[in-house]
Amino acid sequence: MAEEFDQSFKELEQTVMKDMEQIYSEKTIDHFLNPRNLGQIPAPDGFGRIVGGCGDTMEIYLKVRGDSITNASFWTDGCGPSIASGSMVTEMAKGNSVREAQKITQQDILDALGGLPEESLHCALLAADTLTEAIKDYLGLKKEPWKRAYKGRQDCTRRQCDSKT
Ligand code: FES
Repeated sequence: MAEEFDQSFKELEQTVMKDMEQIYSEKTIDHFLNPRNLGQIPAPDGFGRIVGGCGDTMEIYLKVRGDSITNASFWTDGCGPSIASGSMVTEMAKGNSVREAQKITQQDILDALGGLPEESLHCALLAADTLTEAIKDYLGLKKEPWKRAYKGRQDCTRRQCDSKT
């Protein structure tokens, strides 16, 4: 019985994978199934949170040293393509200067992923916009560093604290 179940499960898995391969590039599937940089960075130097038109949310956390993004992570409650886009955009931002990361566009993410279907193009836009927001946050805090004192607490109350209720 258990063997039959295992076999059926494997077959189902293979069917799902085949269906996905019809729709998404190999790279998108890889980033969707093995997302890089998933999760929060405590006390980020930059934080962006955007709710897209589809109702899904993305958050991006940045650590910056000098003018370099030394670490970047993301979180989303969105679809597979949004996970792949968040994973890819944080990979693209990491190790880059803030100025270079500011130039990352929806199209850059799409190119890096090998494209997305028409109905998922906005998922890459959500990732690009969230990165822009996180960079804006970093630059704002750089200009007004005293805001850092309460900023971390604000970020905590946005999602972490919501999810505990
Ligand atoms: Fe909402 Fe992909 S459908 S981010």
